Amino acid sequence: MTHPTRILFVCLGNICRSPLAEAVFRHKVRERGVEDQFEIDSAGTSGYHDGAPPDPRSSETARRRGVELAGQSRKLSAADLDRFEYVIAMDGENLREIRTLEAAAGGRARIHRLREWDPEASGADVPDPYYGGPSGFDDVHDIVDRSCEALLDRLLAERRA
Ligand code: 4NP
Repeated sequence: MTHPTRILFVCLGNICRSPLAEAVFRHKVRERGVEDQFEIDSAGTSGYHDGAPPDPRSSETARRRGVELAGQSRKLSAADLDRFEYVIAMDGENLREIRTLEAAAGGRARIHRLREWDPEASGADVPDPYYGGPSGFDDVHDIVDRSCEALLDRLLAERRA
């Protein structure tokens, strides 16, 4: 496989979880020196926060761990399901929304939930930290970090196969 693997992380608002997953995955890709092998982005199913920067609580938690969040919230579109090879939902509700869009508009993306790769809790949701306290953001960061690590291993192995 020569072209970059295109991967899109998706949550509800695209301000807390998916910008974090995008930044953590990008950070790991850089650490491993494989930037040329991936295109990475994030989006939200809702459009509630269109154009907004990442939630400062998510950014601050990530910054303490050496990860910089970037970008502006945007709504998931039907075109994303064609453009990206992997569309990675944070929770079951996101997954249902993505599948509904796929049913209406088609697309070739492989659609998964991030925690399918979590070695500590396979298949569960990344909890929505938006209405919770700050410790929620640390928990989310831990979940996203170990899941992205395993996901990157898997995608690199697939590219080598
Ligand atoms: P996210 O968190 O989906 O991880 O970006 C949320 C952000 C905003 C809202 C809900 C969840 N909201 O209801 O506005």
